[in-house]
Amino acid sequence: MYEGSARTSSQRPGDNIVGMPRLFLVGFMGAGKSSVGADLADRLGYGFVDLDEEISKRFGAPIREVFSDRGEPVFRSAEREELQRLAGLDGVVVATGGGAFCSPGNREIIHRESGVSVFLDVPWHELRRRLAGDHAGRPMYDDAQQAKSLFGERLPHYRRAMIRVALEGTETPSEVSELVLDALQEAACGI
Ligand code: S3P
Repeated sequence: MYEGSARTSSQRPGDNIVGMPRLFLVGFMGAGKSSVGADLADRLGYGFVDLDEEISKRFGAPIREVFSDRGEPVFRSAEREELQRLAGLDGVVVATGGGAFCSPGNREIIHRESGVSVFLDVPWHELRRRLAGDHAGRPMYDDAQQAKSLFGERLPHYRRAMIRVALEGTETPSEVSELVLDALQEAACGI
């Protein structure tokens, strides 16, 4: 389990760039939150946490099994508790699961202590393509039609993120990281 770094007065590499100690990547399944998050954390010299992995470790089972054996409500309350814990850490990039940012309570936890939410806005046609080839471990995916309707329901939630990074879906994780850093820089300059 990622325990985070102790608060310290010394600067982290990321402080020079954005001065934002806690980033939460949000967006639909397949948006690339985990791969971009790991790359971004590397560049910033931050820790990286995948929220689903933390939940999986907690139950000692893959997410699909947590859903099938214990049910979605148990998963969602673990998700909330893990978010709560991560919201207290400094210098981390967190890749959230696709449903995490759709709960107002979770959004409040994320934003409460100067956490910055970043929406990776990948168009549906690209998400559809990615999910068609990679949905085995995703209990919220039944088929393209159901996923499209879930995507439509969730978009208004994702749009509540502090920062939106508009993507074509053809970018590499490292290109997306660059775009996220640009957007963060712009947002910080505007404050
Ligand atoms: C979920 C998305 C998954 C995972 C869980 C629920 C969702 O994460 O948290 O299966 O509700 O959309 P990814 O977005 O990483 O697939």
